[in-house]
Amino acid sequence: KENKLWGGRFEESVTDAVERFTESISFDKALYKHDIMGSRAHASMLAQQGLMSVSDRDSILKGLDEIERLIDKGEFVWRTDREDVHMNIEAALIDMIGEPAKKLHTARSRNDQVLTDFRLWCRDAIDSVVERIRHLQVALVKLALKNEGLIVPGYTHLQRAQPVLLQHLLLAFVEQLERDADRLADCRVRLNFSPLGACALAGTGLPIDRFMTSHALGFTAPMRNSIDAVSDRDFVLEFLSANSITAIHLSRLGEEWVLWASEEFGFITPSDSVSTGSSIMPQKKNPDPMELVRGKSARVVGDLVTLLMLCKGLPLAYNRDLQEDKEPVFDSVKTILGMLEVSAEFAQNITFNRDRIKKALPAGHLDATTLADYLGVPFRTSHDIVGRSVALCVSKNCQLRDLTLDELKSINPVFDKDVYDYLGVENAVEKFCSYGSTGSSCVAEQLNYWTTQLKIS
Ligand code: ARG
Repeated sequence: KENKLWGGRFEESVTDAVERFTESISFDKALYKHDIMGSRAHASMLAQQGLMSVSDRDSILKGLDEIERLIDKGEFVWRTDREDVHMNIEAALIDMIGEPAKKLHTARSRNDQVLTDFRLWCRDAIDSVVERIRHLQVALVKLALKNEGLIVPGYTHLQRAQPVLLQHLLLAFVEQLERDADRLADCRVRLNFSPLGACALAGTGLPIDRFMTSHALGFTAPMRNSIDAVSDRDFVLEFLSANSITAIHLSRLGEEWVLWASEEFGFITPSDSVSTGSSIMPQKKNPDPMELVRGKSARVVGDLVTLLMLCKGLPLAYNRDLQEDKEPVFDSVKTILGMLEVSAEFAQNITFNRDRIKKALPAGHLDATTLADYLGVPFRTSHDIVGRSVALCVSKNCQLRDLTLDELKSINPVFDKDVYDYLGVENAVEKFCSYGSTGSSCVAEQLNYWTTQLKIS
């Protein structure tokens, strides 16, 4: 057995079970690019500070390039007995270039190293998630552009409430996603500080330059407190919280579309390319992708909860428990990226069943609120008058606009013949015209805003 990098004070090697149980290489190898990036910056700083010769630095940089190339090509041998990504790369570098490589770990601990890697990894991951959020926003806005003028029932309590433009409804999801992207941007700002040089926990007496490595790695500044630097995991808690909120938004979008694809609603038809069938019922065509978007949101929230539980009760500073922070983060990112991608594809592959929706619109007295606004008497009074008008419709099995002026006047003389300009969903929807409302001119403004914002031509 190879002597561990930390093997000096040990007389026995670990058991196979302990080795298998404590390794993290099976998953933290995903950090290799960022680990190498951190090592490059660290070696350059050590040389600049006179802690390593320039020729040692050059051999290290060359060796790291070669290792990265081997990993990229899938030719690097990851060894469980070398525990994690940091020691795999360092030990391989020693095998490859010998003595100079042994200087690389000067003024560095795996505790600050792993966090440097992880922060860099998360920074890239945030950028990828934000990019997918943008794609979904674009898909939703394009879907809105394709469906101008389409009125759909708006619901509260899943009961018919008021008529809204489909475009307005789709833009509601775009707004939610915008806040999701904002939250990630905020999180990115807070996480972008460098732990490198905090070493094990107390910092170091060696004359390193933390500002140099921080700058080289694109961080805003080095973290002020070395103990905090190696203990903090709130950057990932924040990241996974943001992902969880996004996941819940996508889950709600999924629910909406699953419902709309049902026979009962029949508002949308997903294309075959985003549907799956049943192994027993030959007629079935199911909106599985969006069901799984709804379902996988559970994982993303679960990943956050795992991380919260992991951190609860840990004393300062580094504890090995923290090695368990990687997999939930990797899972959360992989899952949310998939959810965003599939939601965008679904949006690109549904058609709205205009006739069916149109036929469904008269039910539910969607124009009742508009009528109440029209009457020009105190709102509580007009609420009551319209309530009685609706009751009359229910008894006659008709719509508000089918009532004659005499019938309306018999309820209250305040009705006049211009009332018919307010009735029917087409009239009613147009009356919602104050800022942020669903009337067509407001929605056109909103669409204009989003097409500019998202650079859609
Ligand atoms: N693999 C470890 C982790 O992911 C790296 C840090 C280990 N530090 C230590 N002192 N054992 O947390």
